[in-house]
Amino acid sequence: MKSKSILITGGAGFIGSHVVKLFVQKYPNYKIFNLDALTYAGNLENLKDIESKNNYKFIKGDITDEAFINKLFSEYRFDKVIHLAAESHVDRSIKDPLAFVKTNVIGTMILLNAFKETWKDNFENKLFYHVSTDEVYGSLGQAGLFTETTSYDPNSPYSASKASSDHFVRAYGETYGLPYVITNCSNNYGQNQFPEKLIPLFINNIINNKALPVYGDGNYTRDWLYVIDHARAIDLVFHKGVLGETYNIGGFNEWKNIDLVKLLCKQMDLKLNKPRGSSEKLITYVKDRPGHDLRYAIDASKINKELGWKPSVTFEEGLAITIDWYLSNDDWLNSVTSGEYQSYYKKQYN
Ligand code: NAD
Ligand code: DAU
Repeated sequence: MKSKSILITGGAGFIGSHVVKLFVQKYPNYKIFNLDALTYAGNLENLKDIESKNNYKFIKGDITDEAFINKLFSEYRFDKVIHLAAESHVDRSIKDPLAFVKTNVIGTMILLNAFKETWKDNFENKLFYHVSTDEVYGSLGQAGLFTETTSYDPNSPYSASKASSDHFVRAYGETYGLPYVITNCSNNYGQNQFPEKLIPLFINNIINNKALPVYGDGNYTRDWLYVIDHARAIDLVFHKGVLGETYNIGGFNEWKNIDLVKLLCKQMDLKLNKPRGSSEKLITYVKDRPGHDLRYAIDASKINKELGWKPSVTFEEGLAITIDWYLSNDDWLNSVTSGEYQSYYKKQYN
């Protein structure tokens, strides 16, 4: 059997590195190419376990570099693409929206064009898998869930850029017959997440006895999913998803930020042998995020019923694994929080 050549973009980032590890380990007959620009969010340390495997190759490069991407496709003729590379942090998108348009919109277009030009004569057995977010649906009130047919209504420059890229993928399907699937997932957490996002940022601050900056009144709700369960869902949709379909992925696990932070504080006190209530004292309410979406909640019944996927760990279990990982990987945490992170943190929180 001819081995499949699969391009995974953004494979040095948080979710991408878990997807790369899963595919390299589970499918020795696939050749996995990881294309990543190694921005502040990309880290080859995340891939130490598999970097020397025969079926894995890392390529440093930028998806917005059209000539480079076209050359790469003509050289390797990737059969399938799993596209995760993106600017992914909402707060950064508020400060620098254009960077999000460049990578998330233009970068996706450049990949779509290269894929289309490579296979337009015969799309059989080819796939462009676009990894997206539930934020494209906008904000819910106190009730209701996002389904695959919820209208798009993005509120941040990040979610607007992801919504735009989703539309282009779908439009290439309609216009050129490009074979695609899209998944829209809720908030991920787990090992290797860059400490700009809520959970790793707060773990790092508790370790360093720093304030925990809760935006607004803390009554914002997110649905949280353990990253390895997201990677499992991507594996399933990649192999069994129906072309041209969208699947929502979520944890069936809604938390108000302030309740989540209190649970995290409790677990951290236990792990660090600190007196009960010490981490909670670090909670500090700060100025709200502009355009802050009140609530996200995913109806993941389609992927559950059609493909048999469901999360494998409870939130308490996933959070405990995550905290343990950060506590035993202080080298990783120290290296990603030096340099650029310090100036980002000052700009964002001071
Ligand atoms: P991340 O920020 O941790 O990683 C992004 C990766 O993309 C990094 O390795 C970075 O170096 C790379 N990258 C950025 N710009 C690039 C460019 N121009 N060319 C090549 N590589 C580039 O992001 P993440 O949290 O792992 O998210 C991955 C994908 O999943 C994104 O598309 C995001 O929108 C989506 N998503 C994330 C979540 C979440 O909770 N984190 C939830 C749903 C969907
Ligand atoms: O829903 C999926 C999305 O989840 C992904 O598409 C994004 O890439 C990912 O970043 C995440 O977006 P959020 O904005 O929901 O995640 P973040 O961790 O930044 O924030 C989670 C909640 O916590 C949100 O309501 C804002 C709040 N928050 C966040 C930070 C960083 C705080 O109160 N204080 C903080 O310092």
